[in-house]
Amino acid sequence: MISKYIDMQKEKNYTILQDVAQAIKDGELVIFPTETVYGIGANALEKEASKKIYSAKGRASDNPLIVHISKIEMLQELVEEVNEIENKLIENFWPGPFTIIFKAKEIIPRETLGGLDTVAIRMPDNIIAKKLIDYSNLPIAAPSANISGRPSGTKIEDIIQEFDGKVKYIIDGGSSNIGLESTVVRVIDNKVRILRPGKVSKKDIEELGIPVEIDKNVISQVEKEEKVLSPGMKYRHYAPNTKCMMIYSKNKQKMISKINEVSEKQKTLIICRNKNENLYNSNDKILIGDTKEEFAHNIFSALRKVDKYDVDLVIIEGVDKEGIGLAIFNRLIRACEYNYLEL
Ligand code: TXA
Ligand code: MG
Repeated sequence: MISKYIDMQKEKNYTILQDVAQAIKDGELVIFPTETVYGIGANALEKEASKKIYSAKGRASDNPLIVHISKIEMLQELVEEVNEIENKLIENFWPGPFTIIFKAKEIIPRETLGGLDTVAIRMPDNIIAKKLIDYSNLPIAAPSANISGRPSGTKIEDIIQEFDGKVKYIIDGGSSNIGLESTVVRVIDNKVRILRPGKVSKKDIEELGIPVEIDKNVISQVEKEEKVLSPGMKYRHYAPNTKCMMIYSKNKQKMISKINEVSEKQKTLIICRNKNENLYNSNDKILIGDTKEEFAHNIFSALRKVDKYDVDLVIIEGVDKEGIGLAIFNRLIRACEYNYLEL
């Protein structure tokens, strides 16, 4: 198959997306931008279409896909029930980087759901994604656009490299605005349980007067045989081939000294904030921006670059776990395969 590339970075005329929507209706795969990361999408209601996603990504068949909708009327078709707390979350965080798990109606094939009877639903806040769903008039199942285990696709060059020839269309909407995947939650016993942290933080939810718990596997490793609330937690994610380590201290001087100390004994690449560039002795550095938002925006493309360097170890400056920091931490700790030092 030849993938058709569509440049929508500056395009304001969305009618070309009608052709892409037709491909969705025909059961084909399409890569499209969202505000979090790119998605590799297909008709969520057709099992053969969903299966194509698993196969293109090399994804385990028990790891369910997020279903994307563009208007609230689509939700009733897909889920059994929406309770008061869920309604409040929807009102406040949709459209946006926020995914809620519901009890699924029969209409969604179990292939889309990795065999579960629940469905993760999100209404993205990206005009291209919205138009595509509207034109196809179908819910679109879409995991992040990356080969399973690799960092999520946030830049079109990386995506083309992995998926050219495997999908019908690749829509370029520029580099992903947020850069990290959505917050995934499930409401259990009138509390919100965060299963994957994202831009919508614990505090953002608590401000609505809703109690929030963070699932323990957000920051720690899943034990063998342990039952998890979200299958994605079990799998290896984001880790480059080169060994990575995260080092963090609230005391910046301590963090810098430790990183320099570890660097002395081996060849390292340091992923650091722009302002810290000259404080490290190591020659190789990837700069990640200064704010946490910039860090989030750049981290996946940085992780994709590290294997190009000939080093023994990649050291990544850590973050505090406040706000979007928890989401960054959650991705980094996986990229480092839990090789983490906090001083
Ligand atoms: O921002 C995002 O969420 C992006 C964009 C494309 O929307 N999508 C994304 O999808 O990150 P994916 O498949 O890479 O991650 C979905 C996560 C996985 O960890 C999966 O296990 C979990 O959500 N998930 C999906 N359905 C679930 C369900 N029914 N119950 C529990 N976890 C679920
Ligand atoms: Mg993913």
